[in-house]
Amino acid sequence: LVASMEQVEETYIMVKPDGVQRGLVGEIISRFEKKGFKLKALKLFQCPKELAEEHYKDLKAKSFYPKLIDYITSGPVVSMAWEGVGVVASARKLIGSTDPLQAEPGTIRGDLAVQTGSKQICRNVIHGSDSPDNGKREVGMTANIIE
Ligand code: PPS
Repeated sequence: LVASMEQVEETYIMVKPDGVQRGLVGEIISRFEKKGFKLKALKLFQCPKELAEEHYKDLKAKSFYPKLIDYITSGPVVSMAWEGVGVVASARKLIGSTDPLQAEPGTIRGDLAVQTGSKQICRNVIHGSDSPDNGKREVGMTANIIE
């Protein structure tokens, strides 16, 4: 268990259209840098629909899926690969709960996501991989675009 916690991992972080539009990219990068993680790749780009569908393929059955795809392709995103020991779980902690209304102060969503009610949960500023496997998968998926 200890060995796996000390694993150098990669996570895929995406500043979503609301975060880019609101000028939060620098603040978000700063939080990851201050935590000691290593930035491996970064790019601002408009996410093609096919890539958005591939990225969120596990959520296809959710009622909010079409809205999420429309949203994520609605404006430029900033995609990044970050590396570090335990970076996947640590990034999820830095990011905070999915719903901006629930996210604790001190987290990126808790401090920066505008609380607009549950119907607007899409606009939660940032995405981070939920497991080391997904970290690899999501970084790999965008490698030809962001590296
Ligand atoms: S779930 O339902 O357990 O899969 O939820 P969660 O793991 O927290 O979220 C998965 C991603 O779906 C987004 N999400 C939503 N988008 C729009 N509307 C609603 N209601 C909604 N609920 C969850 C959520 O932001 C997660 O996307 P990422 O990009 O990973 O943050």
